[in-house]
Amino acid sequence: MICAGNWKMNKTPAQAAAFVKQLRSEVGDSSDFVILPPALLASTVAAELQGSKIGWGGQNCYFEAKGAFTGETSPMVLKEMGAGFCLVGHSERRAIFGETDQLLAKKFQAVQSVGLTPILCVGETLAERETGRTEEVILNQLRAGLSLGAPVKPFWIAYEPVWAIGTGKVATPDQVQDAHSILREALPEPGKNAPILYGGSAKPDNVASLASLNNVDGFLIGGASLEVADFVKIHTLSKR
Ligand code: PGA
Repeated sequence: MICAGNWKMNKTPAQAAAFVKQLRSEVGDSSDFVILPPALLASTVAAELQGSKIGWGGQNCYFEAKGAFTGETSPMVLKEMGAGFCLVGHSERRAIFGETDQLLAKKFQAVQSVGLTPILCVGETLAERETGRTEEVILNQLRAGLSLGAPVKPFWIAYEPVWAIGTGKVATPDQVQDAHSILREALPEPGKNAPILYGGSAKPDNVASLASLNNVDGFLIGGASLEVADFVKIHTLSKR
């Protein structure tokens, strides 16, 4: 099972280096793990992962490769630094930074075009779930996100119900099963088997029941990816 750790805006360079050293010493060089550090910690993480199969990627990037875009991160730079992945459309990017489906479609395309694997995040808010709109919302986000992309190139999907992110409220196995099969069904060929991760308060005490579900290929982990012990435990408990 894939375990991708989204550090969000956490850790200093020293903490990032110590984390990666400890992770390597505990899991060897397992390609199941992906670290998504804040952009400024990317070089530290890349240096510590030299020669390792553990992957890393950006949490966000712009859709242009270079130019007058103050404060932005180029997907080309992530690629040259050795990244393999970049998140696209995390709910915090959508809600806090106002990223639209149109913008995210361009980011998805840009990430693929430099040879990185985009991890497109989709998920409904509590209000959307309570009004029966989950399917419509996640399908719209999925279709819009993939609209300029190439299904022939690698991509991953993360289903992250907004109400479960950072709240300690994890989606139930039934909710995860439903959402993941809806997403799987809607994936275009030849990307039909793209990994679909679950994210939203994934923790050592709740991953086992989700990992056994069809169409759950791994986890996108926020809070519980900040400590090596929890991150590794999630991987161990989600083996099947
Ligand atoms: P969480 O975050 O595990 O802290 O809920 C998940 C995410 O936002 O990717």
